[in-house]
Amino acid sequence: MDELATKVIDIIYAAAIKIKEQLKTKKLVVSTKSSRTDFVTNIDTQIQGFIIDEFMKANRGYQVLAEEGSYNTLNELTGKVLIIDPIDGTNNLILERQNFCIMVALYENGEGKYGFIYDVMADNLLWGGPEVGVHYNEGKIRSVPNLPLSEGLVGFNSAIYRRNAYRAHQIGDESLGVRMSGCAGYELMNLALGRRVAYISNLQPWDYAAGKVILETLGLKVTNIYGNALKLKDRELFIAATPLAHERILELIDSIK
Ligand code: IPD
Ligand code: CA
Ligand code: CA
Ligand code: CA
Repeated sequence: MDELATKVIDIIYAAAIKIKEQLKTKKLVVSTKSSRTDFVTNIDTQIQGFIIDEFMKANRGYQVLAEEGSYNTLNELTGKVLIIDPIDGTNNLILERQNFCIMVALYENGEGKYGFIYDVMADNLLWGGPEVGVHYNEGKIRSVPNLPLSEGLVGFNSAIYRRNAYRAHQIGDESLGVRMSGCAGYELMNLALGRRVAYISNLQPWDYAAGKVILETLGLKVTNIYGNALKLKDRELFIAATPLAHERILELIDSIK
């Protein structure tokens, strides 16, 4: 197997062991960030530090973009970039103790090379990229059925759905059902597994960097809500979908104008 990918996977598994130990034996220290529902825990910061340190021991010349602390902005995506969401689904970690992912991506000059999404408590690993294909646990994913919106489930960011922004209820009504897991990584993994036809959200680069590489490798569409390329810079309104569902959702959103 690819040496770089093997290294990242080893780091992710080691990080997952640390998370499980922490959840069993140590106190979870929770702080709020920008709002009443936006949290960071001691696990988020420790795991981010661990992934950066371990990756940098073995690899040089990477810039880092990661959610917590001073790593959360990058002026230029030139060169090699390591993108980390140490805990995706922090609220689930705090309140459910499950349904959260570690996400890591490697980009080069703005192009996705590898993405890794690990559902820690379920022990499911999805990873891949254009040069290595897409892998799920012991298997390989070769393709995803191009189902239309009317033939599958749609994952939503709960605020977008609650507020019925961007025709969310109409999109949901045309589908076979709506799901809101509170974990972008889980939704993006479900898309790769053909268990969703779309995921609509409001995401930062570290929320979608890994998923974008993996889903585009599988021929799925990953854009902003207007159908344009994502910039990997700031928060953006986000759609990942099968080509058919993507087309229909953009038609519905366009009809707002
Ligand atoms: C959040 C989750 C959530 C999504 C939010 C993200 P975090 O990530 O992925 O599903 O709706 O937009 O911020 O903060 O738990 O890493
Ligand atoms: Ca967060
Ligand atoms: Ca996240
Ligand atoms: Ca996070």
